[in-house]
Amino acid sequence: DKGSHRHFMEKEIHEQPEVISHTLAHYLDFAGGSWRPLDMPFDFAKLDRLTISACGTAYLAGLIGKYWFERLARLPVDIDIASEFRYRDIPLAKGAAALFVSQSGETADTLASLRYCRNAGISVASVVNVRESTMARESDVVFPTFAGPEIGVASTKAFTCQLAVIASLAARAAVARGTISREEEKALIRQLCDAPRLASQALELQRRIEKVAHELAHVRHVLYLGRDTNYPLAMEGALKLKEVSYIHAEGYAAGELKHGPIALIDETMPVIVIAPHNRVFEKTVSNMQEVAARGGKIILITDGKGAAQASVKAFETIVLPDTPDLIAPIVYALPLQMLAYFTAVFMGTDVDQPRNLAKSVTVE
Ligand code: M6R
Repeated sequence: DKGSHRHFMEKEIHEQPEVISHTLAHYLDFAGGSWRPLDMPFDFAKLDRLTISACGTAYLAGLIGKYWFERLARLPVDIDIASEFRYRDIPLAKGAAALFVSQSGETADTLASLRYCRNAGISVASVVNVRESTMARESDVVFPTFAGPEIGVASTKAFTCQLAVIASLAARAAVARGTISREEEKALIRQLCDAPRLASQALELQRRIEKVAHELAHVRHVLYLGRDTNYPLAMEGALKLKEVSYIHAEGYAAGELKHGPIALIDETMPVIVIAPHNRVFEKTVSNMQEVAARGGKIILITDGKGAAQASVKAFETIVLPDTPDLIAPIVYALPLQMLAYFTAVFMGTDVDQPRNLAKSVTVE
C-alpha cells in the first residue's frame, strides 16, 4: 500500500528516518548509549582483513563501509563487485572474514561469492534485509537491516539501513581493535543515534530538490562528483538517476576529474557535487572551480559551513544540516534519491518498475 504517496519509491524514501531508527535499535541501546550484544563467529580484534562483496547499490554501501572500517578500526578491506569476485580466483587468507551485503539475500552473484568463501573455510557474515533469504541461511552470522519490504526497484531505504548497520559494525570493530578511545566510542554512538533525526531534516529539502529536478528532466547527461565516502555516494546518486529517469549519469571521484571526465564539461553539463565541509572540502572546491571555469552547471550539496565557504558560483545549493562524518553518507543519500525520484516523475517514467530492471537479480 502506497498510502498517500504516488509511488513506492517516494513512500520508501520517506520511511527512512523510521526504518533507520528501527535498524539501529537492533545494534544500539539508544537510551543507555551503549551497544547491544552481538553473536559473532569471528573476533574483529583478530582479523587481518575483511573481504566485502555485493552488487549494485549494496556494493556501494560496502564501498562506503571500506572507508569506515579502514579509518576507524584500521582494518584493511578488500571489496569487489560480486560478479567479478566469484570468478577471480581470489586467494583468501585464514585471518580474513567475508561480509556480503544484499537487500534480497538472493542475488545470484553475491550468493555465489558467499559460497566461494564458505568453501575456502573463512567466516561468512551478511547484511541482509530479508531474514528468510538463502544468504541469511547460509551465513555464519546475519546482521539484519529492518527496512521492511522494499517494493520500488530502485533501492532507497534498504541502502541507508545497510549503511546504518555497516557504520555500527565499523565502530564496534574499532572498539574491539582498540583504535578509538572511550570518548570517541561514546561520540560515535551519539552520532549514530542522531542519524534518524538528520535524515528527517533532509526530507524537508524537497522543494529545492524539485527545482533542480525540473532542470535535470531536460538534460541527457549528468556528472556526480565526491571525495572520500562521497565518492561511492556520487556513484549511488548516478545509479539512482539512470535507473529511474534513464538519463545517462556517471559518478566519479572528484580527484579523477582531470584524468578524463573534464573533457565532457560545457555549458550544458550539470555537475552534482557532494561536498559537506569535511577534511577534503577544499580539495573538492578546487574541482568545482575547474567545472565552473568551463561553464558547467554546478549543483552543490553541502552543509551551512560548506555553502558559506565554497568560493564558486553554483546554479543551486542544497544545504543539509550539520552532520557528523560517520553518518554523513546516510543523510546525504536522501537528497540524491529525491533528485532521481522527482526527475523521473517530471519525465513520466515508470518509477517503481523501470524498464529492463528486476528487483531481484537471481540469475547471472
Ligand atoms: O538484493 P540486492 O541488494 O542483492 O540487490 C543488488 C542490486 O541488484 C540492487 O542494489 C540494484 O542495483 C538496485 N536496483 C539499485 O537501486
